[in-house]
Amino acid sequence: MDTSDINTMASGGPIGVFDSGYGGLTILREMRHLLPEYDYLYLGDNARAPYGNRSFDLVYRFTLQSVKALFERGCALVILACNTASAKALRSIQQRDLPHIDPSRRVLGIIRPTVEALDTLSVSGHVGILGTRGTIGSRSYELEAAKLQPDFTITGHACPMWVPLVENGEADSPGADFFVKKEVDAIMTADPAIDTLVLGCTHYPLLLNKIKQYTPANIGIVTQGRIVADSLADYLRRHPEISSRCTRGGNASFLTTESIDRFSDMASIFMGEHVDATHIEL
Ligand code: DGL
Repeated sequence: MDTSDINTMASGGPIGVFDSGYGGLTILREMRHLLPEYDYLYLGDNARAPYGNRSFDLVYRFTLQSVKALFERGCALVILACNTASAKALRSIQQRDLPHIDPSRRVLGIIRPTVEALDTLSVSGHVGILGTRGTIGSRSYELEAAKLQPDFTITGHACPMWVPLVENGEADSPGADFFVKKEVDAIMTADPAIDTLVLGCTHYPLLLNKIKQYTPANIGIVTQGRIVADSLADYLRRHPEISSRCTRGGNASFLTTESIDRFSDMASIFMGEHVDATHIEL
């Protein structure tokens, strides 16, 4: 399907939610909780996950293909529920691609709303960001914070083993303890004044119990689901021209580029409810 086909699609559809794999389901779950009246269409590019160690160009190309697939299925609004894609692809898609594809549609990321929320979460102003190599290497959190919270000290730290642990169903295994403790110790050593740790990867909430176990009790741990859901609610309130194009049947559908059996099993764990997925090729 080319761009002209996308433009001729009916204008109403579900809210598109994209992640490289399962992580964005931790965001979708909170969106459905806060805004149950909307329809959602989730796309996990599981066949090509993880994105975290991939080049800027590949993350951009894969994300753009995924956004187009969601547009083709009627989404007027797509949320990149993936920090890596938000860090490496969002700006290019918003500035370079959307004007050609369909300027009336919107693609939003999850880094800016997370940084906006930091104001109310950190007292010391020293915030640690745990994320993939791609997210941390992009310095996107530091760049947003320089605009929104210029007095904050942001310390980023990459946890390259955490996504593979989650994607392989090893989040609760004893082997995960080693890698969780290692990265939490490293970021707390890098800046002992940190009072808030942001889980800046949508997969990491699946490791939350272990992260809590190895984080000093006085440190706040921030997950993004509720923050992004609140930000989406606010966005839809402020943009009736977009919300009127988001259908409201209370349904969620799931697409994966990998095996539907494995996606359905894993997604049911992430969502806390039974999930049936459909396979697509990108
Ligand atoms: N869930 C994605 C994020 O928030 C990353 C997973 C991956 O490495 O593909 O960054």
